[in-house]
Amino acid sequence: MSDFILETKNLTRVFEETGEALSILNGVDFALKQGEFAVLTGASGSGKSTFLNLIGLLDTPTAGEILFYGKNFSRATSEEKDAYHRKHIGFVFQFHHLLSEFTAFENVCVPARILNEKSFAEIKDRAMYLLETVGLKDRLKHLPRELSGGERQRVAVARALMNEPAIVLADEPSGNLDEKNAEMLNELFSKLNKEFNQTFLVVTHDERLANCASKRYIMTHGKISEKVG
Ligand SMILES: Nc1ncnc2c1ncn2[C@@H]1O[C@H](COP(=O)(O)OP(=O)(O)O)[C@@H](O)[C@H]1O
Ligand SMILES: [Mg+2]
Repeated sequence: MSDFILETKNLTRVFEETGEALSILNGVDFALKQGEFAVLTGASGSGKSTFLNLIGLLDTPTAGEILFYGKNFSRATSEEKDAYHRKHIGFVFQFHHLLSEFTAFENVCVPARILNEKSFAEIKDRAMYLLETVGLKDRLKHLPRELSGGERQRVAVARALMNEPAIVLADEPSGNLDEKNAEMLNELFSKLNKEFNQTFLVVTHDERLANCASKRYIMTHGKISEKVG
């Protein structure tokens, strides 16, 4: 059994769909342990989202390996990847991607309804618990449009946690929030990491969030290196 939740070896992504080959990730070696709060920074266009989409099993690498607990997923079928993604990976995007006709409570239930492993009573209990954890227990019946931007992102975090994922991947989660709401989201990530030992990999430009990290990484020239000091 591997010490690491997640490892990538020589992870490479070349985009050829647009005609001219664009080499974005050039052999990324990366590893993350249980309970880590890792933050990844890097210039816009450096390949951070490309990397998160690959390790979130939403895209397929050109070369290299993605391992979860030592098991290689880089050549897995899309069914295997979907199944792993659904059960073990929580994703928070820059835009909340909540279902607009569903309440906050219903949105949080969605991943568990799709996974279909728990009874509805268990799902409801967990959704209530998570919405309380993110500070929204009095917003259960609100539709996304009846929530503030910060509240919507906190619903998206609760939704990401629904199936007790091994890792939460967040791509510039506070990119659209004002300072106060960004700060609340940062505190929430920090609390989830400390109290529940939740493993995070967060892409952010927010220095204050980066300062909460147990490990800091930077993406340059299609590679990731640890940022020290
Ligand atoms: N599907 C795609 N097809 C072609 N090029 C892409 C695709 N996705 C991303 N890119 C290119 O890869 C580079 C890195 O993008 P991205 O990973 O989104 O950067 P970041 O998240 O660090 O800002 C950009 O130059 C972008 O245009
Ligand atoms: Mg990006």
